Amino acid sequence: MSIINRREFLAGSSALAGLSFMSLAGCSKKTDSIRVGFMLPYTGTYAKLGMAIENGFRLALGELGDKPFGKTIDFYTVDDESNPAKATDNANKIMTRDNVDVVIGTVHSGVAMGMIKVAKDTGSLVIVPNAGANAATGAMCAPNVFRTSFSNWQPTHPLGKIMVEQGLKKSIFVTWKYGAGEEASASFREGFEAAGGEVIKELFVPFPNVEFQAILTEIASLRPDAVACFFAGGGAVKFVKDYAAAGLKKSIPLFGSGFLTEGVLDAQGDAAEGVTTTLHYADQLQNAKNKAFREAYRLAYSEEADVYAVQGYDAGLLLIKALQETSGDLSQKVKAIQAMEGAEIDSPRGAWKMSKSHNPIQNFYTMKVRNGVNEVVGTAWENLEDPAVGCALKEL
Ligand code: PHB
Repeated sequence: MSIINRREFLAGSSALAGLSFMSLAGCSKKTDSIRVGFMLPYTGTYAKLGMAIENGFRLALGELGDKPFGKTIDFYTVDDESNPAKATDNANKIMTRDNVDVVIGTVHSGVAMGMIKVAKDTGSLVIVPNAGANAATGAMCAPNVFRTSFSNWQPTHPLGKIMVEQGLKKSIFVTWKYGAGEEASASFREGFEAAGGEVIKELFVPFPNVEFQAILTEIASLRPDAVACFFAGGGAVKFVKDYAAAGLKKSIPLFGSGFLTEGVLDAQGDAAEGVTTTLHYADQLQNAKNKAFREAYRLAYSEEADVYAVQGYDAGLLLIKALQETSGDLSQKVKAIQAMEGAEIDSPRGAWKMSKSHNPIQNFYTMKVRNGVNEVVGTAWENLEDPAVGCALKEL
């Protein structure tokens, strides 16, 4: 589609409701800097995730050298605290006050939904480097919103099949009571039941609480074949430790989306032994890109990379596609969007393509913790694409 035709098409598209033509086309703002905004959690249970994303993103942009396209890169930051109540204000701060060319954000699904509503009004380019809210690339999808991580539907979709293959047919799903947990649970149920399993109970704790005693007591009395869960960050450390300390691990094996152990395996120690997960990244993947990335990350930050670092890194690689296409002038939004839509990302997780709804089509791996290492034990699903329910961009 030519740019002119595409502009006309985009301007008339229902996906553009609330997004003015001028804001999408850009008002040819010419500056000598590229303005990048991070809207991420730097405090709270997801603080470590936010930092890893920023680190990964900076590593990718660093590959362009000091002054890419003759410009400096200026960074603006807002700590969204994983607090949905502050999402609208924080998004307005970074998009309108700081007037950035692109926002890299965020981690928490509820905050992401607030942020995307603002982005639909401002037309700001957004790259979501974690938050899995299905609607971000589903019912709320938009030309200016891209994701380099996953939808909440994806990581738990392959999990049930693996459990049933191991003869585990009655399961409980445990998670935080908010969008990401609820969507992970619904997707788990779908996949588990399709494979012949039965979810006998869903158990929730409010986000970001880590008081798990009541839930652990209920699991012990219901005696399922297995427990599956979604937790991440600080909460994941506590849940895995409490589960083991309650003596449940030996009799009721623990499964989860891979966030359960990402970046926190050392902190979980022996408690994580035997935990099985599915995720779109594994630190043990033996491809050349992953090895080089992990080495560069370790050198730059004296830390091990995790899935969040990879998602941030890939957000950087995606933005680089847009910068290359526009010679560093992101006010050429239509060109920038086209470059990102066609993107194929050479990622540490393995190469992946952007779906029509702007979400990665990617492999999911099965991992099991043995001797403190998250070993890859198989590929749970190849090229898994989110169904993008309600996304009009699918027609593009
Ligand atoms: C989310 O809120 O969408 C979310 C947060 C942390 C994760 C995964 C998903 O690790």
